[in-house]
Amino acid sequence: MNEPILDDPTLTAQELRSLAAAGTAAPSLLNTQPWRFRAYSGTHTLRVYADPQRALPRTDPDGRALHLSVGTAVFNLRVAAAHLGLEPSVRLLPEASDPHLCAELDLSRTAETPNPDPDQGPDLYAAIEQRHSSRLPFADRDVPETVLGELRAAARAEGAVLSVQDEDGVRRVMALTEDAERRTADDPVREAESRAWLRSREPASDGIPLSQLGPPDSEARLPMRSYTGRPPAVSVPPARFEALPHLALLSTHADHPSDWLHAGQALERVWLLATVHGVRISVMHQALEWPQTRWELRDPNEGPGFTQTVLRLGFGPAGPAAPRRPVAEVLEVVGAPAAA
Ligand SMILES: Cc1cc2nc3c(=O)[nH]c(=O)nc-3n(C[C@H](O)[C@H](O)[C@H](O)COP(=O)(O)O)c2cc1C
Repeated sequence: MNEPILDDPTLTAQELRSLAAAGTAAPSLLNTQPWRFRAYSGTHTLRVYADPQRALPRTDPDGRALHLSVGTAVFNLRVAAAHLGLEPSVRLLPEASDPHLCAELDLSRTAETPNPDPDQGPDLYAAIEQRHSSRLPFADRDVPETVLGELRAAARAEGAVLSVQDEDGVRRVMALTEDAERRTADDPVREAESRAWLRSREPASDGIPLSQLGPPDSEARLPMRSYTGRPPAVSVPPARFEALPHLALLSTHADHPSDWLHAGQALERVWLLATVHGVRISVMHQALEWPQTRWELRDPNEGPGFTQTVLRLGFGPAGPAAPRRPVAEVLEVVGAPAAA
């Protein structure tokens, strides 16, 4: 085994800023950006914390989606570290006494290749800034099987399973998503929680600006998320969506916080790779937000497993860039951590 190459262990301010910018470009439920990054001066350690003030207690009572979101940021940090020529080593949930500490990255090692996992495909760094949610209609065009195969492998490399649904599966997932949308529409507390993250005045640094809401399906087949309640408080003109959407389930074999963090990393790895291939993604997470519909989502063809999210894939316009908090708000640099 190669000995780790220890260069100057201190990360420069510029390196830390570029890492944090990549981390915070990650996707998150309602664009809550529920993460904080902490670096320790004079060290090569970067910690990723979940920010409980940005949790969604009604929509996500056990913090599963929050961990998924933090996991996406961890994956971006890994890619950005590799781009800086480092070989990050990641420990998830390193301190049992601190459940908010989701990950610790040791960035002391210099990488031999500028890729987190050279066997698994292209450098994903440029895709971090190019990736956006696309809530717009996609073309009636198949995603090539070769690309789907690469996306499945990307999920697998992070310990998750991506199962692209056949026509029956797509109809099943759409029906469950519609069911979840109806349940949410009947829950005024959830609707209020979601609406609190809508941003009607720009510029915002988090949440969903009204300008980024997608249209509803004019044929009422594809249950896109209604962010503004029913009847809609803000209406976007309906549009015709693809006849048979490509939907995929992202699942894990177990359902603990570490699995959620793995699923988040898998989600971002799949999404960045899809971006490289010109494939757009929107997340359709509604059915995960009710125990009954989440349970029924489990893919009978994939054996036992826990669905973590639903992805819609296709070719279409890129979504607009969503706002992000400035790096100074998410990154702090403090003295060295106390020895455990
Ligand atoms: C766990 C999770 C759940 C999400 N659920 C949805 C969803 O149900 N509908 C949707 O349109 N976007 C969903 N998103 C996407 C976020 O809204 C999006 O990432 C965020 O607004 C930032 O925008 P961006 O992806 O364009 O950077 C989800 C993202 C994550 C990580």
